[in-house]
Amino acid sequence: MSNSDEELRRRKYEEALEVKSLRRIIAAYFNYPEAAEDDVKRYERSFRRLPVAHKAMLAHLPLKYQKLRRCIDKNTFFIYEMLKAFEPPVDMSQEDENCEHVDDGSCGHFHSGDRDPCACESASVSGRPHSTKSGEVCEEKNGNCCKPESANFEGSLECKTNTHKDTSDNITDIKDPKSLDTVTDISSVPPEPECESHDGLDSMPHFHVPLVDVDKVRCVIRNIVRDWATEGQKERDECYGPILEELKRNFPDRNKESPPTCLVPGAGLGRLALEISCLGFISQGNEFSYYMMICSSFILNQCEVVGEWSIHPWIHSNCNSLSDADQLRPVSVPDIHPASAGITEGFSMCGGDFVEVYGGPTQVGSWDSVVTCFFLDTAHNIVEYIEIISNILKDGGVWINLGPLLYHFADMYGQEDEMSVELSLEDVKKVAFNYGFQLEVEKTIETTYTTNPRAMMQNHYFSAFWTMRKKPLATSIQESMDE
Ligand SMILES: C[S@@+](CC[C@H](N)C(=O)[O-])C[C@H]1O[C@@H](n2cnc3c(N)ncnc32)[C@H](O)[C@@H]1O
Repeated sequence: MSNSDEELRRRKYEEALEVKSLRRIIAAYFNYPEAAEDDVKRYERSFRRLPVAHKAMLAHLPLKYQKLRRCIDKNTFFIYEMLKAFEPPVDMSQEDENCEHVDDGSCGHFHSGDRDPCACESASVSGRPHSTKSGEVCEEKNGNCCKPESANFEGSLECKTNTHKDTSDNITDIKDPKSLDTVTDISSVPPEPECESHDGLDSMPHFHVPLVDVDKVRCVIRNIVRDWATEGQKERDECYGPILEELKRNFPDRNKESPPTCLVPGAGLGRLALEISCLGFISQGNEFSYYMMICSSFILNQCEVVGEWSIHPWIHSNCNSLSDADQLRPVSVPDIHPASAGITEGFSMCGGDFVEVYGGPTQVGSWDSVVTCFFLDTAHNIVEYIEIISNILKDGGVWINLGPLLYHFADMYGQEDEMSVELSLEDVKKVAFNYGFQLEVEKTIETTYTTNPRAMMQNHYFSAFWTMRKKPLATSIQESMDE
């Protein structure tokens, strides 16, 4: 077999894996209502087992369960509209053959394509403490990645500025340009969600996935609050506020003619990257979870008015609620209209694995700043992350970080082969110094992550925050000669 045949075969194989991964993620979204209904049925079964006298005291609960169903319908409606707007970047109609022909054993199980996007929240959405470190490795290497050479913002095919509607709506789109005309007509949204109506969704994959996948959908819903609801403002102030302040302080003379650039790896649902863009940076979010990208694309590109959607993010946990009303409360999304937020031209979201997309030679010395927020601990090898951050920064460029070190691949019971290099903060800094960084600001900031602000239990992190500057090469060389 020639090299080009081999390359073609490899590409087909990778695309097939990506399709498989995406199918499973879409199926997880479709499984959401059924899994939620199963929970409600379970609550009802428990209620029915109560002695008559106890039932009489709690006679309001059956009504609560009906209300829960309506909340699930509302969330499902949001999810279905989001899926309708989604244009898969790969050909979803292809058979699994390409994958099955490769006999390396990796096709015998699903490639769900996603590490847990919410692995920083140690309480599960169902209220049970658990480790959400799924360890499933993303295979989104090609289809939706901004290749390093195409990460030049405007005009790139894979990482495209969306120009749907009019020019004032320019905003990032992670999809194929042909999808840019797909705008959800919100005027047709019925007042009460009709979740039975699957218009445009029938061709999408519907099959059962493990509950752990549905948990990821619930995590995305919590992330929506963090990034796109007024309820998440306090958390954003804690996490994003200090980062934005540092960016302003380090780049005081931002000018519209030639804005500084900023990369946000592990951008989640994209709010931080958007806020950075609004400060006057050419900002690029990088994210490899399709769970996240499907949702961020919908909010960034399709939402047309503030509060367009009402969701019920906290319904999936009966634990630590002060009242049923608290648990059932709606949250309006988005809290701002992204397209009119004042973004700087060139804002983009780039799908793909940070290491794959930015680890190559074309990205070297490209960025004025890199911002990592709750991202460093997603690494299999944090040293590799730091090396890449150093490589892609210009000399004198700035790296701002905030987050804990809750290594996502630590404690992977039963998956001993998962690589996970788990360093202390002291060692992380040592590695950074070795890659030519010097520490300019360092503090600890208490933050939450996708926490229900009204719950009786809230996890707090004492997050490490720093600003490091990549020393100019000459300084680095001189210092190593002096040692
Ligand atoms: C804990 S979340 C933080 C999200 C966001 N920065 C925030 O503060 O809300 C980590 C994010 O990084 C993404 N991620 C993990 N590993 C990644 C990788 N290798 N490349 C790109 N994104 C990654 C996850 O999918 C997830 O969305």
